[in-house]
Amino acid sequence: MHLTGPFAPVVAEVDVADLTVEGELPPDLDGSYVRNGPNPRFSPLGSYVFPLDGDGMLHRVTLGDGRARYDNRFVRTPMVVVEERAGHAIWPAGPMSAYRPGADEVGPELAGTSRELPDINVVRHHGRLLALAECDRPYRMGPELETLGYETFGGALPAGICAHPKIDPRTGEMLAFSYHSGPPFLTWTTIAPDGTATPPRVVPGLDRASMIHDMAITARFVVLVVSPLYFDVAAARDGGSLLAWHPEDGTRIALVARDGSAVRWCAGETFWLWHTVNAHDDGEQVVLDYVEWARPSGLAPGPPADPHLARAVIDPVRGQVRRRPLVDDLTVEFPRIDDRRLGTGYGVAATVTRTGRDLPHPGCWDALAFHDVRSGDVRRWTPSDLALGEPVFAPDPRDDGDDAGWWLVLGTSFSTGASSLFVLPAADPGAGPVATVRLPVRVPLGLHGSWLPS
Ligand SMILES: [Fe+2]
Repeated sequence: MHLTGPFAPVVAEVDVADLTVEGELPPDLDGSYVRNGPNPRFSPLGSYVFPLDGDGMLHRVTLGDGRARYDNRFVRTPMVVVEERAGHAIWPAGPMSAYRPGADEVGPELAGTSRELPDINVVRHHGRLLALAECDRPYRMGPELETLGYETFGGALPAGICAHPKIDPRTGEMLAFSYHSGPPFLTWTTIAPDGTATPPRVVPGLDRASMIHDMAITARFVVLVVSPLYFDVAAARDGGSLLAWHPEDGTRIALVARDGSAVRWCAGETFWLWHTVNAHDDGEQVVLDYVEWARPSGLAPGPPADPHLARAVIDPVRGQVRRRPLVDDLTVEFPRIDDRRLGTGYGVAATVTRTGRDLPHPGCWDALAFHDVRSGDVRRWTPSDLALGEPVFAPDPRDDGDDAGWWLVLGTSFSTGASSLFVLPAADPGAGPVATVRLPVRVPLGLHGSWLPS
């Protein structure tokens, strides 16, 4: 299902300027929207599990002076380079397969490796454009989206970082974590505005490896939600599942003090999250907004879990977590905010959602929702015939106010396969786009991206 229709990968790398724009691009919208996503270079060997498998491809729409340009490039890992030489896939599509090619196939340096998957996210910090994997060394990308190589932050982070680091808008620091299959299981780091990173610091209190996809920050804490989705490398080696869901263990939240003081663990009932929305300090407590799943659908037995916005109030003194639905009960994912509000109070969370129409590809999202967490107001943009990706906020550089800016989103027509970038005014996103940039090629549905002001 995830290799067809709006998910189908593309192979061509193109660079096209002066794209057709319907409506008018805001003159202050000056920069690039860049997005990453799984896009296997060759037909996968055996199974393909979205969104865990693939190769990375960056898609970029550059806006300025009312004009638009599009280009796209693979993230050229050693696996992509070797496979391009061979003309076919050699490695399995991702981590769910235990097969590893030997030296006779891929040479001694790559023998026994698994496919690197820097296909989840793309961020810029200290001028470095980074293509990020789930938890691995990022790839640094050049100005033409060429792959420059691993980014280890001066050697401080040889094992890499997570896919969802957070840049603190007040300090300019980028905070990240990393999990590991053996002790110490979970570490975190701070990358200063000048690009230097602290060596990984241990988050104590874990005795096995859990999968953790996202994080949040407040002024005081790095917030890490540890759900009972455990790595079981031995089972995977014997042909079983790499990930095992143990709901009886509950979900714990680590408040990792950014000043280096003791980590506080808080325990609660079991839930899963792929994505946080935001967090902030509230007196002694921490408020965490996120998209709550009853279980990680596809990775845990049980019926599909409809994800919805939720708020957890975390009390580090009592070690308790109280959770409740936030704003509405819409089925949503891919939450984003105005990143100038990361770590503090904020106004609007934008998400993808579904209209409930029958879709040619049921895994798709065909609407956006804008949830005002202060007023409880919900606005939706419900175009017909579009498979939509993650909305990303591009702030108005001349205005720091809430709703000052635009939401950008890539969409692909179910009926024609044509892709566009839609520019929605943040003040009234339900009214639809003020500008639509027609892209020269289809952009497959993908994962996360960033607005990079010029
Ligand atoms: Fe993600």
